Amino acid sequence: MQYATLGTNGPKVTTIGFGAWAIGGRDWGETDDQVSKNALNSALDRGINFIDTADVYGFGHSEDLIAEVLSARKSGNVVIATKAGNDFYHGSDQDDVGYGPYRQNYDKDYLVSATEKSLQRLKVESLDVLQLHSPDTDKLERDDPWEALAYLKEQKMIKSAGWSVQSFKETEQAKFLDKYHELIDCIQVRYNLLERDAEEVLFPKAQEYGIGVIVRIPLLFGLLTGKFDRNTTFGEDDHRRFNLAPEKLKKYLDQLEQMQPLFDAYPDQTMAQVSLRFCISHPACTVAIPGAKNPQQVEDNAKASELGPIPAEKIPALG
Ligand SMILES: NC(=O)c1ccc[n+]([C@@H]2O[C@H](COP(=O)([O-])OP(=O)(O)OC[C@H]3O[C@@H](n4cnc5c(N)ncnc54)[C@H](OP(=O)(O)O)[C@@H]3O)[C@@H](O)[C@H]2O)c1
Repeated sequence: MQYATLGTNGPKVTTIGFGAWAIGGRDWGETDDQVSKNALNSALDRGINFIDTADVYGFGHSEDLIAEVLSARKSGNVVIATKAGNDFYHGSDQDDVGYGPYRQNYDKDYLVSATEKSLQRLKVESLDVLQLHSPDTDKLERDDPWEALAYLKEQKMIKSAGWSVQSFKETEQAKFLDKYHELIDCIQVRYNLLERDAEEVLFPKAQEYGIGVIVRIPLLFGLLTGKFDRNTTFGEDDHRRFNLAPEKLKKYLDQLEQMQPLFDAYPDQTMAQVSLRFCISHPACTVAIPGAKNPQQVEDNAKASELGPIPAEKIPALG
């Protein structure tokens, strides 16, 4: 595995990590905990040392599973990045916009109490990375979320302060790095072959300020592995029924055809590997965190770390 430093003062992490949303068991169709634990163990066996999760994934279940696997292995050298701000502790059915009952809450008191609960679930004394979980822009205009991160750092409840930038708001929200770059160690960003808005303003600022970048949705929810077609549908309990609804799926699949020369250039590599290599080839990007539900997916994805960067001239422009 190849390593990179997550922000100027951050930990050394493998350039491919493990995205632990799906193993939470909500939002992605049915999962089997034993298979999920096998997937996590497979990642650790391959040397992956970075896991991204959130308190809200499975309403605590993703963090619980990670703690269970790590304590059984007695592994201490794994960096866990979690998130807070999606309050499922007090959610009501009116708050449910498709991911279950929870609401955004970035009040300082709430973020501190959510951090305490994540510390308990993950069975650690200090969180390696705590990220604000994709706040709306108006929430970021308030002092509270930033004061919470500063306080949590001072209290040594977290080692690194992170912020997961809301999807499709990469340019609008980039300005917050100008104000808070001394506090923020890393950001998490939606970025993949078909969604490159972060390249315009956000990535240059992250590079300027020495802020690490965690790349999420690097496989566009599985689409960039090449396994979906125009007739693919998703179950009621799978968020892709709206995030990859037929019109969106069609648009993405049309764009995917434009990437074919890139996949053809690497006939010995899977589409997942080429897609992940694209993400970690950008000099701003530290680690890509493909979600994986089973050991086979982990094995496929982990290999991308070793394959090195893709030369910029080989990457087709997006039409
Ligand atoms: N707001 C936020 O902060 C936020 C939002 C989204 C994600 N994230 C984080 O980013 C991580 C990654 O994003 P993501 O999981 O949403 O999307 P992703 O990594 O683009 O796609 C993951 C899904 O693709 C499929 N897959 C993965 N590897 C595969 C392979 N080699 N071959 C075939 N299929 C494969 C699996 O689903 P199937 O097998 O069911 O197809 C898997 O759950 C998440 O796990 C989470 O940690 C954060």
